Amino acid sequence: MKDFIRALQESHWQVDTVLERYLRTLSNQKTSLIQAMRYSALQGGKRLRPFLVYHTGRLFGLSPESLNAPAAAIECIHAYSLIHDDLPAMDNDVLRRGLPSCHVKFGEITAILAGDALQTLAFSILADEDMPNVSTKARLKMISVLASASGANGMCLGQALDIESEGQHVSTSYLETIHKNKTGALIRAAVRMGVLAANKFEEPTLTYLDRYAAAIGLAFQVQDDILDIIGNSHITGKQQGMDQAWDKNTYPMLLGLNIAREKAQALYQESLASLEYISKLGYDTDILIALARYVIERDK
Ligand code: IPE
Ligand code: IPE
Ligand code: MG
Ligand code: MG
Ligand code: MG
Repeated sequence: MKDFIRALQESHWQVDTVLERYLRTLSNQKTSLIQAMRYSALQGGKRLRPFLVYHTGRLFGLSPESLNAPAAAIECIHAYSLIHDDLPAMDNDVLRRGLPSCHVKFGEITAILAGDALQTLAFSILADEDMPNVSTKARLKMISVLASASGANGMCLGQALDIESEGQHVSTSYLETIHKNKTGALIRAAVRMGVLAANKFEEPTLTYLDRYAAAIGLAFQVQDDILDIIGNSHITGKQQGMDQAWDKNTYPMLLGLNIAREKAQALYQESLASLEYISKLGYDTDILIALARYVIERDK
């Protein structure tokens, strides 16, 4: 686990250098717009999605330099999704990463625009950043994958269904659809972009790594739901109990904490089964196994 934590920290530094470089190029650095973008992209957070990009690409021998673009791009989308998720019209959360949420700090208008600008910055980076040894075909495919996972077939859809179903009783399969979209889609995109960077367009590696990503993507949100109840606000950096306050549909709310924990465990096992295939093809999957464990054991 210690090696994994160090690797997570390294991905954090690596992607932040790239994000910093792009944020610095924006004109009007002193505006609250740019300050809000910096605040939400660089302060705190785990950088789990960039980690997945870097370490999926690494399986196939790609260097971090070849993967900086998708890693930074997906983190921009993620940061934007958090800003909008916290807005009064959505989850109305005042605490994020142990700090006032973006709209609390900068006001709602700036927060909305900072989210919008981070979203477009993601695609500027993915289109412009050097990607040594990555084909143009792969770059175009990555743009398509990230766009689709972020929008009405992915994260935005999930967010819409999440808000729409507040206060209503939904089935577990519907809840799974919400979670797979609002959270799973970006996690799958991270892994997929790592595979695409290595020019693997239709191979079994893509199928099995996608299954791995789908399992940890859902597990990630199940654990997020669990932490909303049993987590420590000082560690998660978020206010506890907000899901219940909003009458959200979550795994623990629908099935109880124990079954939610069992679900996370089952998804972990499922993710390992997919990695078995990758490992049989001769790839070293140790770090992806460690990540899967972290997803269901994390306390923040
Ligand atoms: C939080 O994501 C939002 C969800 C998708 C559950 P993370 O837990 O990855 O947030 P940070 O980036 O580490 O703050
Ligand atoms: C958010 O899920 C998923 C996103 C797309 C941002 P949550 O609303 O549960 O995330 P937190 O708990 O606020 O981080
Ligand atoms: Mg939400
Ligand atoms: Mg939220
Ligand atoms: Mg949550």
